[in-house]
Amino acid sequence: MEQKTLEVRNLTVCFRTEKGIIRPVNGVSLDVPAGSIVGIVGESGCGKSMTARAVMGLLRYPGKVTEGSVLLNGRDITNLTEKERRKLRGAEVSMIFQEPMTSLNPVVRVGKQVEEAIRLHTDCTKEEAKARTLEMFREVEIPEAETRYKCYPHQLSGGLRQRVLIAMAMICKPSLLIADEPTTALDVTVEAQILKLLEQLRDGGTSVLIISHDLGVIAKVCDYVYVMYAGRIVEEAETEVIFRRPAHPYTQGLFRSVASLREGGSTLETIPGVVPNLHRLPAGCSFSLRCGECDARCEQELPELKETEPGHKARCFRTGKEAAE
Ligand SMILES: Nc1ncnc2c1ncn2[C@@H]1O[C@H](COP(=O)(O)OP(=O)(O)OP(=O)(O)O)[C@@H](O)[C@H]1O
Ligand SMILES: [Mg+2]
Repeated sequence: MEQKTLEVRNLTVCFRTEKGIIRPVNGVSLDVPAGSIVGIVGESGCGKSMTARAVMGLLRYPGKVTEGSVLLNGRDITNLTEKERRKLRGAEVSMIFQEPMTSLNPVVRVGKQVEEAIRLHTDCTKEEAKARTLEMFREVEIPEAETRYKCYPHQLSGGLRQRVLIAMAMICKPSLLIADEPTTALDVTVEAQILKLLEQLRDGGTSVLIISHDLGVIAKVCDYVYVMYAGRIVEEAETEVIFRRPAHPYTQGLFRSVASLREGGSTLETIPGVVPNLHRLPAGCSFSLRCGECDARCEQELPELKETEPGHKARCFRTGKEAAE
């Protein structure tokens, strides 16, 4: 049987707000098989980062996991204590956060920051920690590692800062790396380099979960893709399959907006409308408000995530088998 590094089952995150309870993550299930890169894609606000934070046990108050489970290498980590989690984070699972500038301490040299990450998890000496940091800098292809080791974050380019963060995340060789928008702040050349680095990590045995609003990024490196909308997975398949035959109207809309850019269009064709306010979700399909194919049933009834062909699932009444009936 295929080994799974991460298994998320029916994960639900609730937020109690003044206007009532919302579920930014609503029954999400996903797998990251060992040695693969898996992507979560969706527009801003659809719950991608919240899913990652819930997996890491890093939800901010008042966010709370109310249902579901998270298994890391087969071990249930849903209800660990904070102490147990601290042991796990960095050592077995690491995350690169969406805000690269705020993830590094501006007044500490980057080499020292990576060293601290090692010394948190092992009792190696200062010298050993430094040697491993330099080795890791070379592994993530930071040129002139010795010089860069002594730099402060602001002295490095965006691409190098991202490499430092990846080095920090990888220093204890975790089995899973979660990268939230790892290339959003970077230009396309640097983006390609960082994506190549993530592929090298995968080939070295680390499983990677990439979160991005950019289908182009996902297409370049992911083996398998989950499309998220308003807190739910609305489509999933192998990357190639989803690119050839996107089944959900939302995914099709995401593709059109990428295609219009690629064809040299000056305006980005976007999906009309906005992600719905989580306080006012429609009774039926969350995408029904923006969907060109929506009918009365879609407005009333929530579609399940169903197979449209072997290995390909979509949450839509209008697609696949049902539409053919
Ligand atoms: N403290 C909070 N209170 C209430 N709602 C919140 C809070 N923080 C986030 N949310 C809501 O949770 C939802 C999911 O947010 P999340 O950050 O996971 O989105 P995202 O998919 O990562 O978006 P982006 O692409 O912008 O990073 C959003 O609709 C957001 O408005
Ligand atoms: Mg986010």
